[in-house]
Amino acid sequence: MCGIVGYLGSQGAYSILIQGLKRLEYRGYDSAGVALIDGTGSLNIHKAKGKVANLEQTAAAGNTDGLIGIAHTRWATHGEPNDINAHPHVSQSGNIALVHNGTIENYAVLKQLLCEQGYTFKSETDTEVLVQFIDYIHASSDCTLVDAVRETLLQVEGAYAIAVIEKNNPDRLIVARKSSPLVIGVGDGETFIASDATPIVGYADKVIYLKDNELAVIERDKAISIVSIDSNTPTKIDVQKLKLSLAQLEKGGYDTFMLKEIFEQPKTLRDCLRGRITDNGSRVVLSGVELNKETFLNAERITLVACGTSWHAALIGKRLIQDFCRIPVEVEYASEFRYSNPVLGPKDIVISISQSGETADTLAAIQIAREKGAFVYGVCNVVGASIPRNTDSGTYIHVGPEIGVASTKAFTGQVTVLTLLALAIGQLRGTADSDTVKSVCKSLMQLPEILEETLKCDPEVQKLSRIFTYAHNFLYLGRGYNYPTALEGALKLKEISYIHAEGYPAAEMKHGPIALIDHEMPSVIIAPSDSLYDKIISNVQQVKSRGGAVVAIVSRGNTAMNDIADFCIEIPEVPECLTPIVASIPLQLLAYYIAVGKGKNVDQPRNLAKSVTVE
Ligand code: AGP
Ligand code: GLU
Repeated sequence: MCGIVGYLGSQGAYSILIQGLKRLEYRGYDSAGVALIDGTGSLNIHKAKGKVANLEQTAAAGNTDGLIGIAHTRWATHGEPNDINAHPHVSQSGNIALVHNGTIENYAVLKQLLCEQGYTFKSETDTEVLVQFIDYIHASSDCTLVDAVRETLLQVEGAYAIAVIEKNNPDRLIVARKSSPLVIGVGDGETFIASDATPIVGYADKVIYLKDNELAVIERDKAISIVSIDSNTPTKIDVQKLKLSLAQLEKGGYDTFMLKEIFEQPKTLRDCLRGRITDNGSRVVLSGVELNKETFLNAERITLVACGTSWHAALIGKRLIQDFCRIPVEVEYASEFRYSNPVLGPKDIVISISQSGETADTLAAIQIAREKGAFVYGVCNVVGASIPRNTDSGTYIHVGPEIGVASTKAFTGQVTVLTLLALAIGQLRGTADSDTVKSVCKSLMQLPEILEETLKCDPEVQKLSRIFTYAHNFLYLGRGYNYPTALEGALKLKEISYIHAEGYPAAEMKHGPIALIDHEMPSVIIAPSDSLYDKIISNVQQVKSRGGAVVAIVSRGNTAMNDIADFCIEIPEVPECLTPIVASIPLQLLAYYIAVGKGKNVDQPRNLAKSVTVE
C-alpha cells in the first residue's frame, strides 16, 4: 500500500512531488510527507496527517526549495495515522531521510538491537527501523551509504520499496525494492521514481520497472546503476516506452473518477475486446492461450486466485470455464490459498486475477503455485505490474488506469476477459460448440452498445438511491451467474457508503438470513431472464411476504417481477453468461449515488487503498 515519489533534476522538486503524490493518493491517504535538500544543504521535512492537500497547507509556511526530494502518501500498517508516523522518516543523526512502501516483519528485533546501541525512536512505524539501521551501519563501519542501504536490506524480512536521500549529497537518490513496486522514469537530465508510472506521465516517456531484489543508484549527470541486493552484482537494465497518457489520468468532466469509470465502460470493453474475436465473429484468439496450447489441452484442473472484487470476477470465471471447458475449477481467496498448503502439480493451471497486479496476497499465491509446478496465468490491468511479470503467460484487460478505489470498469473487464478465456480454451479442447461460441461472440461484440443502453438507467437509479440513503443494512441476492454479481453489488455499497450489506445466494436465504428481513432491510435482487428466473421469483416472494422492500434488476420487457418487487430496473437482455457484466452497471450506480447522497468521498473511501501491497 501507499505511494512513494522521488525526483532528482534541475527543476524545483516540490511541485513535481506534490503532483505525483496526488496521482498516487488512491494508494493511501492516511498522511503525506516530503523531504527536500535545498541549495544550502539543509534537509527540510514537511508532514501532515490526512490528504496531500493538508501537506500542501503545512508545507506552504516552510522551505520547499530543492532540486532533489522524496515524498510519501501513507496507508498505515504500523502505528496510527498521525503527523509523527507520517513518512519521510529521518535518522537520528539527521542526515538520512527515507520513504517506504510495505511492511518490515522483523522490525521489533531490529529495533531492540538499535535501542541497545543507543538509538531512540520517534514514531511507532516499522519504517523508522530501516532509516536508523542504515544510519547505524553507515556510522559504525567504514562503508558508503549505498552499501549501508544494501547491508540493511539484507537484514530485513518483509516487503519494501524505499527511496533514500542523504543531506550531504543532493546529487544522489537511492532506491530499492522487494515485493512492493517501484518504477524509474528516465527524463532528459532528470530522473523520477514512483510506486507506479502515473506520476511520471507528462515528464518522461522512458521507464525502468525495478525488479524484485534490485537496488538502483541515481546520480546527477551519471548513468543509472542497478545491482542485485543479494549479490551486489550489476543487473541488466531494461528501458521501456511508457504508454500512459495524461488524458487517461484525468476526470474528463465527471465529478469523480468513479463516475467517470462507470460511464467509460462501453469504451473500456471495446478496448478490452479489440482484436480478440476473429474469423467473422466465430473465433476467440488470445495469444496467451495460442502460445500455450499443450498446457491448456493437458490441464486437469484450473484454480482461480484473487482478492476482493477480482475474487468476485473469479467466481463468475469458474462458471464460465466449467460451462465452456468442462474442466474442474476451484476459486480461492489468494490470502487463504497461500497458507493452505495447496495440492498442485504440472497438470494444474492457476489463474490469478488482479486489477493492480500488485496485490501482495495474490503475488504470494502465484509464487506458491509456481513453486509447486503449476502453470500460472495472469489476468491483469496494469501493464508491466508485478503479477504479469511473475506469471508464465496471461491476458491484459486493457481498461486503462482505474483510479477510483472502488473497482468498476476493471470488474467488467475481468469478466469479459474470463469469458474470452473460457471460449478460447473451450474451442481448443473441443468442449464449446461452435454455435454457442458464435452467439456469445456476437453479444460480446455488441457489449459496448449494450452498456451504452444500460447506462441510460442512471437518472432512475439516482432517484431510487434517495429512498435508501439512510438504510442501515442491505441484502443483495442472486443465483447462478449472478450470485457473484450480488456479492460485488454488496461490496460496492459497503466500501463507499459504509452501509452494511451482504451478498447471498437467493435460495440460501431460507436457511437462516431470512430471519433478518423486516421493513427496515431492503433487498436488491439480481434477476435477469435466465435459467433460474422462475426459481428466484419464489425466493423474492419469500422476502416480500416478510415486509422487506425489494429492488429488482430485471431484463427489459420481463414484467413478471413488476407485481412482486417494489422497484424494477430494466437492463438489456443478453446471453446468461454475460448478465453479470450488464447487471453490474445499475449496482455500481446505486452504490455510487447512495454514497454521494451521504456526502462520502467515493474515490477515496475511509480505511481503504486501491492497491493492497501488504498482507
Ligand atoms: C474493489 O472495489 C476493492 N477496492 C478491492 O476489493 C480490490 O478488488 C482488491 O483489493 C483486489 O485488488 P486487485 O484487483 O488490484 O488485486
Ligand atoms: N509500514 C509502513 C507504515 O505503516 C508503510 C506503510 C505503507 O506502505 O504506507 O508506515
